Amino acid sequence: MASLTPISQTHFLFNKPHLKLSSPRTETCFQSSFVSKRLCFQLKAPVFGRMPLKNTAVVAATTTEKPKKRYPGEAKGFVEEMRFVAMKLHTREQAKEGEKEVKEKEEEAVRKWEPSIDGYLKFLVDIKLVYDTLEEIVEKASFPFCDSAKSGSLRPESHLSFPLDAEFRNTGLERSEKLAKDLEWFKEQGYTIPKPSSPGVTYSQILQELSEKDPQAFICHFYNIYFAHSAGGQMIGRKVAAQLLHKKELEFYKWDGDLSQLLQNVRDRLNKVAEGWTREEKDHCLEETEKSFKHSGEILRLILS
Ligand code: HEM
Repeated sequence: MASLTPISQTHFLFNKPHLKLSSPRTETCFQSSFVSKRLCFQLKAPVFGRMPLKNTAVVAATTTEKPKKRYPGEAKGFVEEMRFVAMKLHTREQAKEGEKEVKEKEEEAVRKWEPSIDGYLKFLVDIKLVYDTLEEIVEKASFPFCDSAKSGSLRPESHLSFPLDAEFRNTGLERSEKLAKDLEWFKEQGYTIPKPSSPGVTYSQILQELSEKDPQAFICHFYNIYFAHSAGGQMIGRKVAAQLLHKKELEFYKWDGDLSQLLQNVRDRLNKVAEGWTREEKDHCLEETEKSFKHSGEILRLILS
């Protein structure tokens, strides 16, 4: 006949010396000959003796299955998870949380950079193409998808069939128009504006494709592109301004309103969108970070060409 044998907590810990109790809880474990898992009933009464045991409700029944995996940053929201992955992909020279070793020129400390105006112009042209693409995608995404989504008539055949809604538009982080003004200024100074080159054209095509078929991957790029240029991007802007532009501050590095608030608004929105994702979708988004660094890195490298 099957029997339930209570195992005392002390006995349990003796057998598993690597397990420590984080808080004192009364726990009674049973092992059954026909139930392979050890069943533990946890009494949520952290202070022993506060109430008589027979009056204590058993509030949780747990098994000793592996605890759910926690992802770094998860408790704060998905943006924190994206940030954690992104920061590790920086080199130590780029940011103090960075872990990658320096392999390319642009991965060295910005203070060591030797930029050229021609290279910087190529960078501005390519990064503008990337922002033009992102902003066009987000702008178009609301028509007609979001309106039809709200009215309940989703169009599955639409290439915009993914929930980039109005809140990703007019975030105040948009850079396309600012960059157009900067390029205009360079023209007035007598510089010839180059055509977009391969790193920008390629990245722009990739973003377009992802927006049509892979929303989680697209969101990863969206986050990294906007947040990178508001962080490390400003360091680069200061360096180039001081070294090449007689400290002229470009529009690219100016935001209308309080930048930290604008970033926070976008973080909140991204967190909300990701709340509707499965763990697999979140992991897929995080995995895309490396690709984002690769393509942005190629564009940054133009500054040093
Ligand atoms: C020269 C290249 C780069 C430098 C010097 C740089 C530097 C930095 C620094 C100093 C921070 C702020 C860290 C902090 O919050 O304490 C940062 C944040 C960040 N960077 Fe970079 N970075 C570079 C390239 C990139 C690239 C290529 C990407 C991705 C495409 C990227 C994505 C991010 C993201 C997502 C954050 C977090 C921003 C936030 O939490 O507000 N960075 N970077």
